[in-house]
Amino acid sequence: MTTAVAPWSLTENASLQHLNTFHVTAHAPRLLRVADPAALPEALATVVGQAPLLVLGSGSNVLIAADPEGTVLAFDNRDITILEHRADHAIVRAGAGVIWHELVLWSLGEGLSGLENLALIPGTVGAAPIQNIGAYGAQVGEFIQTVEAWDTREQAWVRLDQDACLFSYRDSVFKQDADRYLITAVEFRLPLLNELRLDYAGIGEQLDAMGIALPVAADVANAVIAIRRRKLPDPDVLGNAGSFFKNPILPLEQVDVLLQHYPQLPVFPGNDPGNRKVSAAWMIEACGWKGQRDGDAGISPNHALVLVNHGTASGAQLLAFARRVSASVLETFGVPIEPEPRLIGARW
Ligand code: FAD
Ligand code: EPU
Repeated sequence: MTTAVAPWSLTENASLQHLNTFHVTAHAPRLLRVADPAALPEALATVVGQAPLLVLGSGSNVLIAADPEGTVLAFDNRDITILEHRADHAIVRAGAGVIWHELVLWSLGEGLSGLENLALIPGTVGAAPIQNIGAYGAQVGEFIQTVEAWDTREQAWVRLDQDACLFSYRDSVFKQDADRYLITAVEFRLPLLNELRLDYAGIGEQLDAMGIALPVAADVANAVIAIRRRKLPDPDVLGNAGSFFKNPILPLEQVDVLLQHYPQLPVFPGNDPGNRKVSAAWMIEACGWKGQRDGDAGISPNHALVLVNHGTASGAQLLAFARRVSASVLETFGVPIEPEPRLIGARW
């Protein structure tokens, strides 16, 4: 006998402690879980007038500073389908609730490439387009063909192609217009043979250490996984949301002046020839914050960009600590740094 899965369910006064990787204590008046996106309009109708709506995936890029007021929406659709298989690429569709790293492993198992540098990024497929997740020389937007979403403004289903998503470093149309688009599925165009990206610092050394001279995509994923496990704290052990600050993108003239004073500041290509991305981690470490803590809020001893919860810090305490870090970077370097995660119940 099979038991039919309900297309959606609603819980009152739901704990969000396991829905945020800082593991701060928080509650939502209602948690709406949707397993079948076709039922989304009907499910939303039950909470109409009880806006605002906040979508959460795994909560690995949010800092909950105060309880959300409205309904939290989470997607449980975890289907992965190959829509088209061509000689040189495949079109793959994944539900919003699929765990990102599981999609990466699945795609490599199918002989598809492209996502290998993005292995082990926490979170869900539905959240991946929001900040155009990126790591080790790749960004997901390069491989996204279409994002399918419910447009809450137009009250209609929409399909946004890659250009309409306005992807850039840690940004997209979805981040700029938060909560307008409820992403239900993402379609990827994945090459059968991707040109491997081995340039990012550490990948070559890691492959050498693994004794791999002629890597395939799965080897690159394994190298990235090893580097990430070494550098970044596991949120199940130490609450965190990955990089808490974005690397600032600054005009070339400002970068030249900074480099005259701080020749060791790591500098990377920016959005265009007139600007550069500079390392926020280096500036935070230079200000002495790496490994510091105040109560249970602190900066990871392993990576200066990672704000951590050593136990029972509240979202407000974590935010207050982050503000002290950013104020000292501004004072020392004259560079404002901004949070990467979405702040819930607070403004930066
Ligand atoms: P959430 O944190 O739940 O949500 C993030 C944002 O997306 C929120 O604004 C939310 O409202 C919105 N959202 C979520 N799902 C949907 C949906 N279906 N429709 C519409 N809006 C939605 N990020 C990187 O880019 N690169 C990294 O290398 C990286 N490393 C990390 C390492 C660690 C240890 C951790 C904890 C985080 C890291 N992150 C990294 C950040 C995080 O993993 C990504 O931003 C991820 O995409 C968040 O997914 P999520 O499901 O947890 O989203
Ligand atoms: N560095 C320091 N101190 C540190 C850590 C790093 O000085 O404690 C310097 C080093 O010189 C290093 C440079 O910063 O060469 C860059 O470090 P890393 O390669 O770790 O990259 P990052 O800029 O700190 C970014 C992303 C990460 C992503 C990595 C790898 C942002 C905000 N962060 O970190 O993404 O995994 O590159 O591509 O762009 C995230 O977004 O949550 C995240 C973890």
